[in-house]
Amino acid sequence: MGGRNPRGPLQAGEDIILVDPKGEEHLITLAPGKPIGTHRGNILHDDIIGKPDGSRVWTAQGAEYRVFRPTFNQYILNLKRHAQIIYPKDIGPILLWADVFPGATVLEAGIGWGALSIKLLEAVGPQGRLISYEVREDFAESGKRTVTRFLGECANLEVKVRDVYQGIDDKEVDRIVLDLPEPWRVVPHAREALVPGGILLSYLPSTLQVKQLVDAIEERGGFTAPDVFEVILRPWHVKGQSVRPVQWMFSHSAFLVVSRKIT
Ligand SMILES: C[S@@+](CC[C@H](N)C(=O)[O-])C[C@H]1O[C@@H](n2cnc3c(N)ncnc32)[C@H](O)[C@@H]1O
Repeated sequence: MGGRNPRGPLQAGEDIILVDPKGEEHLITLAPGKPIGTHRGNILHDDIIGKPDGSRVWTAQGAEYRVFRPTFNQYILNLKRHAQIIYPKDIGPILLWADVFPGATVLEAGIGWGALSIKLLEAVGPQGRLISYEVREDFAESGKRTVTRFLGECANLEVKVRDVYQGIDDKEVDRIVLDLPEPWRVVPHAREALVPGGILLSYLPSTLQVKQLVDAIEERGGFTAPDVFEVILRPWHVKGQSVRPVQWMFSHSAFLVVSRKIT
């Protein structure tokens, strides 16, 4: 079916999250007449279709599962992925620090698995545009598929199979968001493509990359001194008398480097 359908009963063709008794999540597309095999017995898709979001369902052996319409986080984190994605904890801050607004023209590179693209499209809204440069044709296609599977067809998404290091042929771009290994090679092109006051934001796993990018921005000039930070999310365990941070956490994803074009 494709496209978000946030209300009403669960329908054939839409994606659901099936949560097993241990809390494990499984992303499944509802198809009439099919069974879902679990090691606790089968669940029929037909037993889920027509149920409200958040319902309980049972396997033939009586094990209880829950079914939900996937949130963005559930959708992205449960996809079988071939490319590293930007993690949900970083996507909110990216939208805020890049100040992505309704109606904006945003350029991203590359599209990868399309996780960030979904939230960029929601933030620019139908009046805005997202242009995604992706060097790999297969990733351009699969990234776009991931986006349209979640959001439905997006007339304002343009995916270009292009190497952004070679240049940006779009002009009057409000925001540029880079998730690729050598963003310093994009700095001169970004300076040309951005509107005055436009924002360049890069997502980088390693400090050496951060240093190289900051040096390139300062050497090129025409940008404000970059803000550099990382986002740390510390989940807590709250059960009975045990109220404490979880013992194991995901400690590092990437740094954000943000700078504005000045005239
Ligand atoms: C880490 S992935 C992006 C993940 C994406 N932000 C997401 O949230 O799903 C990096 C992507 O950049 C692409 N890429 C690398 N160098 C590029 C270049 N010079 N021009 C365009 N795309 C490039 C890669 O092929 C890959 O798909």
